[in-house]
Amino acid sequence: MSARLTGRLVVLGITGSIAAFKAPEIVRALRAEGADVQVLMTPAATRFVSPLTMRTLTGRAVDADLLDLLPDGRIGHIVAADSADVILVAPATAQWIGAMASGMAGDPVTATCLATTAPVVVAPAMDGEMWAHPATQANARRLMEDFGYTLVEPVHGALASGSEGAGRLAEASAIVAAVIAAIGASPVREPDAARRPPVVPAGDLSGRRVVVTAGGTEEPIDAVRILANRSSGRQGIALAEAARDRGADVLLIAARVAVPLPEGVEIVRVATVAELSAALDAALLPPPDGRATSSVDALIAAAAVSDFRMRGGPSTEKLRRDGDLTLTLEPTPDLLAGIAKRLGARAARQTKLIGFSAESGATKRAVEKLKAKDLDLVVANDVTAPGIGFESAENRAEILDVDGVISIVGPAPKRVVADAILDRLVALLVTGGAR
Ligand SMILES: Cc1cc2nc3c(=O)[nH]c(=O)nc-3n(C[C@H](O)[C@H](O)[C@H](O)COP(=O)(O)O)c2cc1C
Repeated sequence: MSARLTGRLVVLGITGSIAAFKAPEIVRALRAEGADVQVLMTPAATRFVSPLTMRTLTGRAVDADLLDLLPDGRIGHIVAADSADVILVAPATAQWIGAMASGMAGDPVTATCLATTAPVVVAPAMDGEMWAHPATQANARRLMEDFGYTLVEPVHGALASGSEGAGRLAEASAIVAAVIAAIGASPVREPDAARRPPVVPAGDLSGRRVVVTAGGTEEPIDAVRILANRSSGRQGIALAEAARDRGADVLLIAARVAVPLPEGVEIVRVATVAELSAALDAALLPPPDGRATSSVDALIAAAAVSDFRMRGGPSTEKLRRDGDLTLTLEPTPDLLAGIAKRLGARAARQTKLIGFSAESGATKRAVEKLKAKDLDLVVANDVTAPGIGFESAENRAEILDVDGVISIVGPAPKRVVADAILDRLVALLVTGGAR
């Protein structure tokens, strides 16, 4: 059977039903018919399925906030309304059907439906009693009879509530068939790609595996106390998010952080230097039995790693306040230098190693550090300067290679600094090292 939606733009509105987990399946079925898909979501829908998932499956930025403009400054719901060949709302909640029947425009899906002349197909999903309620039935009838929308009736079957009833989202095949019928033989509404919602460009790190460490490690002193540092994890997390958005497959090894961890990346939590070391070994080094591992293109070591820990290990009991206390600390191993050594010399190894040098007052030791550890790049920042570095949202960084400073960025938000670092990484990956 030939693809029946080739060249068509299907705008898919997802609302806050448990059946939103089926939206990826609907996208796949539409794309299998050759459709371009643009996703709109109500705020409730984003609690059931992640915009990142929908963006990844469709290759287009998701419109989940009515008041956010598109990346190119256009108004999302108007662009979608004007360029859609069809708007499909699946799953449609009782709340959404009611809002639409009343002409409300408080979320991207209702606003786009109000603003369009394209056909609209609605596939409800809800508890059987909700669907049977006279209010829902009257609202659904209004969509069909007054607005001319196509309704793909929910079916009888097992519901999320655990009960049975007539409220289950119709099968993807029935929904796609209704979409094809609604478009019929009408001409493509907006053949000009520039006037359709923008496509997310394929990232310059797509197909790459990037490992990022973030946050501050902590070393136990006794049963209740720790030696910690003031790293918030913001710069490392910004790096993980930026690498993810540029298409990389990201592993984030997160120590103690003060900000939420990102979605859409693999996360391993660690506390101590020993745990961080084990997580790095597992991610980067081939197992001792000689099995091949998935290759890592870059390690960005942004975590603030304790330089010291208790000699002989922490006290197993809480230390008592019996007068002065002297703690004997020993230096911790230099994890990055150890990894570099085991991965082999810079020119020969496949994994690019990027270190951070959080020196107070100066960046001059950074190149020495890079050479001593045999890193590809080092990012030097003065963590004691006011308004930048640890705990702040901004950073100023010098990015250095073996010959010295290659770029200076900031003071700027940590995401901007992250992208500047990734620009240098991409250059390294593309040229293999030459600038
Ligand atoms: C776990 C859970 C599942 C839900 N599933 C449905 C559903 O299948 N259909 C429905 O109409 N409402 C469902 N709701 C209620 C809606 O999420 C709620 O009415 C919400 O306001 C809908 O907002 P929206 O229509 O703007 O997306 C569910 C709520 C929860 C907590």
